Amino acid sequence: SPGAPPGPLKFNGTKLVNDDQHPWKPLKHGDMRGPCPGLNTLASHGYLPRNGIATPVQIINAVQEGFNMENSVARLVTYAAHLVDGNLITDKLSIGGKSPLTGPSPPAPANAAGLNTHALFEGDVSMTRADAFFGDNHSFNETLFDEFTAFSNQFGAGKYNLTVAAEYRFHRIQESIATNPNFSFVSPRFFTAYAESVFPINFFIDGRQGDGQLDLDVARGFFQNMRMPDGFHRASMPTGLEGLAEIASVHPISPGANVNGVNTYTFDPSSADFTTFCLLYVNFVNQTVRSLYPEPTGNLKKALKKNLEFLYGPFSDQCSQVFPYGKD
Ligand code: HEM
Ligand code: MG
Repeated sequence: SPGAPPGPLKFNGTKLVNDDQHPWKPLKHGDMRGPCPGLNTLASHGYLPRNGIATPVQIINAVQEGFNMENSVARLVTYAAHLVDGNLITDKLSIGGKSPLTGPSPPAPANAAGLNTHALFEGDVSMTRADAFFGDNHSFNETLFDEFTAFSNQFGAGKYNLTVAAEYRFHRIQESIATNPNFSFVSPRFFTAYAESVFPINFFIDGRQGDGQLDLDVARGFFQNMRMPDGFHRASMPTGLEGLAEIASVHPISPGANVNGVNTYTFDPSSADFTTFCLLYVNFVNQTVRSLYPEPTGNLKKALKKNLEFLYGPFSDQCSQVFPYGKD
């Protein structure tokens, strides 16, 4: 049965994290990497198993230790991802594609196929990865990094900062509306897209620098090479979604999707948005998770309930718990 979620760091200040115990190493044949530059980097520095297969406890410890991600954000994101993309029986998640190392597949429609799986956690309008419609939703995309660079030059004087994040986030949405007939921008992607736009500012800037201005060579190092700069120090305090509300308010847009080809973006009132935060949790559990596991039994049902309990933790101060598989 899965281990209890780790608590916050004891020493939670900045420190050298690209250290002798965590050297960057190139990929070995079969190592899994995926759409998240943060987890890719932690694996390539050995904060996570270098093969890219990890338990939720390992992921929470790694994002805290390596980047000073705040405990409740780390738990929320990790258990959400694990519930839809991980193997709940073996407690293992691939940070990339489907891997036999996570164990036997659960019964369909669940697949435990890793973070590359489209439309459960991974979604459209990523900054440096293409929409799944265009064929590859997880590899570093040079064309998109060129756009990231152009926006940083235009709005950030050559750095990626909150001003750039707001403009580039909005630009990627406009781009997908105009080019991706399958474009979808509903919860949970509606939330994670904004969160991930501020993560480079919150986590990829050296904790001793802390001026909110991300150098583009440093950015490329993380996004493409999964590598911390020499001497890299993590954030100076536990950090999570700082800046999210600020960038989302610059170009407000409602959750929705292209419903009939490109340029048919239509508001979806069933999706959670920033005014209905608990609906993010409720819909994720009652719709996304339940659609994967409609009738679980035995150990699978037990593992689901445990992981749902762990997911609820970070919502518990604001939202009522839901029990799709019963209370006992
Ligand atoms: C994107 C998972 C922590 C930085 C993603 C995506 C997934 C993911 C599935 C793909 C979403 C998409 O763009 O379609 C996770 C999980 C984490 C975690 C399970 C566990 C806590 C982190 C941390 C950082 C980070 C600690 C920064 C140090 C990013 C960034 C993106 C991203 C910047 C956007 C990539 C892009 O748009 O090109 N993450 N992540 N993540 N993640 Fe993570
Ligand atoms: Mg994506």
